[in-house]
Amino acid sequence: MPVSQSTVQLINHLDRDYLRQALERDVRAGLEAVPKQLPPKWFYDATGSELFSRITRLPEYYPTRRELAILREHAGDIVARGGADTLVELGSGTSEKTVLLLDALAGAGRLRAYMPVDVDAVTLREAAGRLAARYPGLAVRAVCADFEHHLALLPRTGRRMVAFLGGTIGNLGPDARAVFLKDLRDTLNPGDTLLLGADLVKDVGRLVAAYDDEAGVTAAFNRNVLHVINRELDAGFDPAAFDHVALYDEVNDWIEMRLRARRAMRVHVAALGLTATFAAGEEMRTEISAKFRPAGLSRELTAAGFAVRRWYLDPTGDFSLVLAEA
Ligand code: SAH
Ligand code: TRP
Repeated sequence: MPVSQSTVQLINHLDRDYLRQALERDVRAGLEAVPKQLPPKWFYDATGSELFSRITRLPEYYPTRRELAILREHAGDIVARGGADTLVELGSGTSEKTVLLLDALAGAGRLRAYMPVDVDAVTLREAAGRLAARYPGLAVRAVCADFEHHLALLPRTGRRMVAFLGGTIGNLGPDARAVFLKDLRDTLNPGDTLLLGADLVKDVGRLVAAYDDEAGVTAAFNRNVLHVINRELDAGFDPAAFDHVALYDEVNDWIEMRLRARRAMRVHVAALGLTATFAAGEEMRTEISAKFRPAGLSRELTAAGFAVRRWYLDPTGDFSLVLAEA
């Protein structure tokens, strides 16, 4: 019997002009804000994605291994309950854990389409090609898009499960999260499901270590945002002049990543005609990574119009997947 060909389609909602304008807007607003801050999606150029892949293999970074353990144990149950034939994945990156869901769908005879969505076109294209080769007959539609802006443009065919793994939901602050979840709910049909990976509140020492590893990979990842701005906006940041800072905010239950100026500096951003002044020791926020309690996240999902169907925790209770229905 002939093996049916897979197809790969690439859809791009992030052309150069769009990216450039969005980066300019974010960097200008962020450098003029008090305190200064930069939004995290700009970490992920090809170098940033490569550094993130190294983070996922660090001894201190437990989330990837824990989420993988949950998927190994429960992927069959998850796809049986979801009833989907189409897997949409937001912030898919290298799609490494996703194969467990795709295998389970294939095993159930229901794997039709996979739609990875990511801001990093390079990593997205590689992953799409790899998965098309692995699953004969699979329709792969890779969408280069910003999940905070382009949800309404995602393909709507099939009975869908939207996977949002890795705890990336925690990189949105509470207000952005509420908007995101409502927007996502609005794009789904009744019966479509969301599979959400959420990191859980735990011992502060372990949380901080996961974002401040011995080998300094997370520090390099954090500084990468300055390399991106130097390259794209012709800026003069000296990344080595910024220390990596990771701390846990126990009031908000989130990790905060910052870059701290080691000395007083003036940094010119030529493309913006702007000069930012840093005092010695000044800190610029680059990322939050919120940690959740199941009850709180259930409330957020319910408020957005989802019905929570099932929680899956790994045996250590470090990480969770929640399956919710639209
Ligand atoms: N899902 C993978 C990767 C998580 S890292 C895992 O669990 O290991 C976060 C991913 O989301 C990166 O691949 C990054 O490029 C992507 N990303 C970050 N912000 C995004 C946005 N606003 N829109 C789309 N993708 C985004
Ligand atoms: N979604 C991942 C998380 O919050 C992303 C991440 C891991 C990250 N380590 C990081 C983002 C360090 C910025 C800096 O765990």
